[in-house]
Amino acid sequence: MTNPEKIACIETFGCQMNERDTEIMAQLLTRAGYEMTNEPDRADLVVVNTCSIRGKAEQKAMSLLGRLKHSKRTKPGLIVAVTGCVAQQEGGKIQERMNHVDLVIGPQAIYRLPELLDSLQKNGGKMTAIDQAASFTIPSLLPDPGNSALPHKRFVTIMQGCNNFCTYCVVPYTRGREVSRPPADIIAEVKHLAANNVREITLLGQNVNSYGLDRKDRDYPDFPTLLRKVAEIAGVARLRFTTSNPKDLSEELMKCFAELDNLCPHFHLPVQSGSDVILKKMNRKYTIGQYLEKIAGLRRYCPDIAITTDIIVGFPGESAEDFAATMVLLEKVRYHGAYSFKYSDRPHTVSAGFADKVLEEVKSERLRILQARQQEITTERYRACLGHVMEIMVEGESRNGEGQWSGRTGSNHIVNFSGGETLQPGQILEVRIDEACQHSLRGNLI
Ligand code: SAH
Ligand code: SF4
Ligand code: F3S
Repeated sequence: MTNPEKIACIETFGCQMNERDTEIMAQLLTRAGYEMTNEPDRADLVVVNTCSIRGKAEQKAMSLLGRLKHSKRTKPGLIVAVTGCVAQQEGGKIQERMNHVDLVIGPQAIYRLPELLDSLQKNGGKMTAIDQAASFTIPSLLPDPGNSALPHKRFVTIMQGCNNFCTYCVVPYTRGREVSRPPADIIAEVKHLAANNVREITLLGQNVNSYGLDRKDRDYPDFPTLLRKVAEIAGVARLRFTTSNPKDLSEELMKCFAELDNLCPHFHLPVQSGSDVILKKMNRKYTIGQYLEKIAGLRRYCPDIAITTDIIVGFPGESAEDFAATMVLLEKVRYHGAYSFKYSDRPHTVSAGFADKVLEEVKSERLRILQARQQEITTERYRACLGHVMEIMVEGESRNGEGQWSGRTGSNHIVNFSGGETLQPGQILEVRIDEACQHSLRGNLI
């Protein structure tokens, strides 16, 4: 039953955690009688799910909110809600600056969205819900099947928050302390998804390697044990997880890559910098030597594992030698891919107070050099696939035209291929790789 007067639109910025939160809010709103739309102009409720990881991410969300002020002028009944990490960080200050914002809801409170909307409609005014409780339990809500852009693959949140306090990072302040979900809830959610034709599951947390450690008193399994349990669930053809702080990557987890057939041979292991001096200032709690040992361990258990990373350039105090060390690391690891960012100061963080900030133009130059070299390495990695037969999971028809399909390898590379017949997303097929492009591979079905 949809009420034609209630149409909602959610605009999402940020990481998979936010994407998953958007799905949850969409599900709650649908149950409350809202029709969901992708067009903000049609909506009576616009939720802006924000990200605060870098200055630019915050600005993007803020400028969208700014534009909504005009929408509200032409449509006075429009309700504007802000969720996500900027909501948590700024709280009621958002409404002080932007009078047209009705609701500010932190990540722990998204489950209360329908209730908050109700009370807003009854009582009017403005509301903020940004309390964070250490005793918070992530509510159990079985996802609606199909309610996703790619219905054959879904994210499952296993924990929220982060206890690591890397000096540059806002996440511990916006998402609070680590809270692991009860294993029974996670298993039930994955079983439910698998029973509804979901073939690929990605377990989500800011640092999945510390799963369960906050609930030692309740006998929660550790992450490798949880992973093994999820891998056993019938129908889960592919299993992934993200993200991991290298300091907590255990031998037990490495073993999983040798032993679990459905665990995809891909590991995203953010390094942030190739310099021990900078890693120390970042409070990452590992050295490059230890990091390289972990990479070697992973490759021992799973020789073909694809390794990707995150890198920050221009952290305060990063010298030319520090940056050179990051470039050396690229050659040592030969990542399959790297997400790289210019350092930006974030509210509350320790590094925001550090002296010797790197000049903007130096950051830009370092980023350019790093990305250019990484692109070459990525292309070399792609070329090494030429002639190989690879297993791909079909994602859907590709944008390139009729009979053209798109899929992903276990190592998470995109492969475009000619198919001919009708294929189903989630199907696993073999493709021979014939061409390496900049951001993808091309092949033919065999
Ligand atoms: N939990 C993940 C990181 C999530 S944030 C982990 O520990 O690996 C994603 C990435 O954003 C980080 O890996 C980092 O490379 C980047 N990042 C975080 N804070 C940043 C900042 N202040 N400036 C630039 N990049 C940042
Ligand atoms: Fe941020 Fe570090 Fe936690 Fe990752 S591990 S979310 S970078 S504080
Ligand atoms: Fe952004 Fe918050 Fe995710 S800051 S990256 S939305 S945890």
